[in-house]
Amino acid sequence: MRPDIRNGRLYLGGCDAVQLAGDYGTPLYVYSEEEIVGRFASLRETFLNRWENTRAAYACKAFCTPAMLKLVQREGMCIDVVSGGELHAAMQAGFPAGRIEFNGNNKLPSEIELAVDYGIGRIIVDGLQELALIEDVCRRRGRRMQVLFRVSPGVKADTHDYIVTGKKDSKFGIPLDAGSIYPCIRAAIDSEWVDFLGVHFHIGSQLFSVQPYLEAADVLLELLLETQSRFGYTMTELNIGGGFGISYTGEEEVRPYGYFLTPIMEKIQAFCAAREIPRPTVVVEPGRSIVGEAGTTLYTVGAIKDIPGVRKYISVDGGMSDNIRPALYHAAYTGLIANRADQPAVQRATVCGKCCESGDILLQDADLPAVETGDILAVFSTGAYGYSMASNYNSNPIPAVVLVRNGEHHLIVRRQTYGQILENAVIPDYLM
Ligand code: LLP
Repeated sequence: MRPDIRNGRLYLGGCDAVQLAGDYGTPLYVYSEEEIVGRFASLRETFLNRWENTRAAYACKAFCTPAMLKLVQREGMCIDVVSGGELHAAMQAGFPAGRIEFNGNNKLPSEIELAVDYGIGRIIVDGLQELALIEDVCRRRGRRMQVLFRVSPGVKADTHDYIVTGKKDSKFGIPLDAGSIYPCIRAAIDSEWVDFLGVHFHIGSQLFSVQPYLEAADVLLELLLETQSRFGYTMTELNIGGGFGISYTGEEEVRPYGYFLTPIMEKIQAFCAAREIPRPTVVVEPGRSIVGEAGTTLYTVGAIKDIPGVRKYISVDGGMSDNIRPALYHAAYTGLIANRADQPAVQRATVCGKCCESGDILLQDADLPAVETGDILAVFSTGAYGYSMASNYNSNPIPAVVLVRNGEHHLIVRRQTYGQILENAVIPDYLM
């Protein structure tokens, strides 16, 4: 997306970014509602409206606040949660229980109880041990639960190692060995307490090729067929996860949803038609691609340090505590100076945060105009896994979050205070 620049200033959702920084303080996460809604619209156009029996569940780990969940609800989508905390946020937002699916490799008994009590739509189960836990909770509550199994299809996706999930050596999913997967399926079919719907995979995140999805789909379709011949049981749902890549630097080959979803759907459709079996409902779980490019983080420039002949460091008032991704994944971003948005680049500098880590770098070797202390730096595409992975490292408060649309701005998360950071801290009497 090209930045909206007016009179030398950056605008976000029709709002002057410098003004936003002044009104709410920095660091500040700014989300464009129009961008988010646009992503849902393209998912609808290229997938949901195009194929019957399809669903999209926004993976709210990417960005989870009650206001965001309200937006997702208004757009008619489902959500994927991965913890009691995300489920709690959904409950607070009054998110319809039936439209919630629960993923995760180690769901706690208390989280399963919360899910069963709220009556969520589906639990995506990671193994027999978890199935037994769910059955136990359902038995005690006298309620049933719809389940899928997450499998690891054994395909390798081309992305950072930390966000590859579909290979066999992974903490996620059930391996596809007959000795692992079929006892799960048998147990779910036979269970008095669960309705077995089908299978799920998620092969990784920030992916740009449809190839691993097609390979994984092949594997799951065979599983569907084999389940039918072994147990005479027809799965009705296939969840192909999320992972669709976005643009951080403008150099990525970003593909529209249709690039991934059309060939996947054609494959599934053709497979089922050839065998005269009903096509299962197909579900996707996009997270990053819904919110990533919709988010921008604003910072105020502080100390500037020039090491002659070596490098210039420009420090800002946030860093790895609001965006861990460069430190964790060597993720690259781009940014601009919001109050000098039309000035030409005259220098190459490294933008770093204020945390006590040398790896606390936000922009490596950025081309920037003349920058002064007090300027407002905007870093783009920070909407996914920025706020949601923020921490209180160095006791920095978690920044505020603002939603912008058509020139309006709405606070959706207040900035944390120093007092709130210490809210749960206790000094034992003997130390007083
Ligand atoms: N479904 C499942 C089961 C997942 O595990 C994930 C992401 C998604 C859907 C959504 O994937 P997405 O569409 O957002 O790529 N913190 C990392 C990303 C971790 C992704 C974890 N799972 C990052 O900042 O790159």
